[in-house]
Formats: sequence, C-alpha cells, structure tokens
Amino acid sequence: MKLLVIGGTGKTGREIIKQGLSQGHVITAVVRNPSKVKYSHTNLKVLKGNVLIPKSYETSFQGQDAVLSALGHKKFIIKTTILSRGTKNIITAMERNNVKRLICITSLGVNDSKFKLGLYYTLFTIPFILFFYFLDKSKQEKLIMNSELEWTIVRPGQLTNGKKRTIYKHGKNVGHYLLTKMISRADVAHFMLNLLKQNTYLKKTVGLTY
Ligand SMILES: NC(=O)c1ccc[n+]([C@@H]2O[C@H](COP(=O)([O-])OP(=O)(O)OC[C@H]3O[C@@H](n4cnc5c(N)ncnc54)[C@H](OP(=O)(O)O)[C@@H]3O)[C@@H](O)[C@H]2O)c1
Repeated sequence: MKLLVIGGTGKTGREIIKQGLSQGHVITAVVRNPSKVKYSHTNLKVLKGNVLIPKSYETSFQGQDAVLSALGHKKFIIKTTILSRGTKNIITAMERNNVKRLICITSLGVNDSKFKLGLYYTLFTIPFILFFYFLDKSKQEKLIMNSELEWTIVRPGQLTNGKKRTIYKHGKNVGHYLLTKMISRADVAHFMLNLLKQNTYLKKTVGLTY
C-alpha cells in the first residue's frame, strides 16, 4: 500500500516506517527535519513539512491509501494546541485528496478511556504535568471522530522502547484503573500496520497494552 506517515522522526514513527518498509509498503514520511531520517530505502520518500503549515505537505497526500499518525511533542507542560491544529490540517488534506483511511495514536486516559492509564497518571501526571497535552489530545480525538474519514484511534498505555513481541491486548476495555500498563513503540507500530489488513476497528477507538 501507499502510506503517508506523520511523526516519522519520532520513536514510534520510526518503527512504523521501518516495519512498514519491511512489509513492502511504499512510504512517504512528512517530517519537519529530513536530516533526522538516518536511513534510506527505494520505497521511502522523505518530505519536509510541518503539520501546522498545510501548504508545506498537502500535495503529498495525493494517491495515498492511508495516513498513519504518530504525531506528538515534548512541550506538553505549556498550553498547546499542536495536536488538534495539526490533525485538523491532516484531515482537511485527506478530504481534499480523497484519502479515506486514518490511523492515529492518542493515549489511554483520553476522553472515554479516562482513568485507564492507572492511578499515578490519573491523580498526578495527567492533572499536574500533562493537563494541556491531554486536553489537546481530547480535541484531536473529537476532530477525528467527527470527520467522515475511515478512522481508527489507537490509545496505547505507557510507551517503552522494548522489542516487538507481537502479542498484546487490544480492545475497548484495555487499560487498568490502578496499574499503568505498558506497550512498546515497536508493538504499537505492529498493531497499526496490522489494522490496514482488517476493518475490525473502523470508526472506533482501541486501547493497546501488554
Ligand atoms: N510516552 C508515552 O508513554 C505515551 C503513552 C501513550 C501515548 N503516547 C503518544 O504516542 C505518540 C507517539 O509518541 P512518541 O514517543 O513516538 O513521540 P515522539 O518521539 O515525541 O515523536 C513525535 C513526532 O511528532 C513530530 N512532530 C511534532 N510536531 C510536529 C509538527 N508541527 N509537524 C510535523 N511533525 C511534528 C516530531 O517531529 P520532530 O522530530 O521534528 O520533533 C516527531 O517525529 C504521541 O502522541 C504520544 O503523546 C505516548
């Protein structure tokens, strides 16, 4: 398939690209800084683009079969709207170019998965450190849900840089009120790429942890 990846210089995005290429997909990575992409492949095209500046990447959506987003950032303490504004632009670019399938990472703990990232995140990390980031993730999800796209929102537990195991739990009731459940970025990428082969979670949110 022809895939457009957002966040390809990030830790999960890199995994999506690496595993996607090994599965034979043709990938266009839209990244702010192409020099951060340290590998090359005949099926990989790297384009400079910032999700907040649609002009920089909009034409790259032409002819894609799906968009996989691992958009995220580290400036989460301050009030931020990067995820929602960026995602709004991505949705518009998809609609204009007639690309239907969107698979986007948010997180457990957002909207109706509130409390499912464990007690520590619920009582401390989300209210005191990630408050604005999670508010933005909530808006990001609502924009996707209100779109006409064939979307799937993937809500992982806490991310690790562990190896791909390919065995994990996914579904509506995944997550835990007391414990923070983990999942490796490699397995998040594995799950997202597998979603391209099935319609199980079409227009649905799905939790993902070990
Ligand atoms: N950490 C956790 O435990 C956890 C748990 C659940 C969910 N998540 C979520 O999972 C997602 C992926 O996490 P991660 O750790 O792989 O993220 P990451 O390493 O921080 O990568 C984020 C990616 O987004 C890109 N990006 C940021 N702003 C952009 C912009 N304006 N235009 C284009 N690209 C932009 C970054 O590009 P640059 O390289 O240019 O900065 C980077 O490629 C995030 O949404 C995160 O919040 C994380």
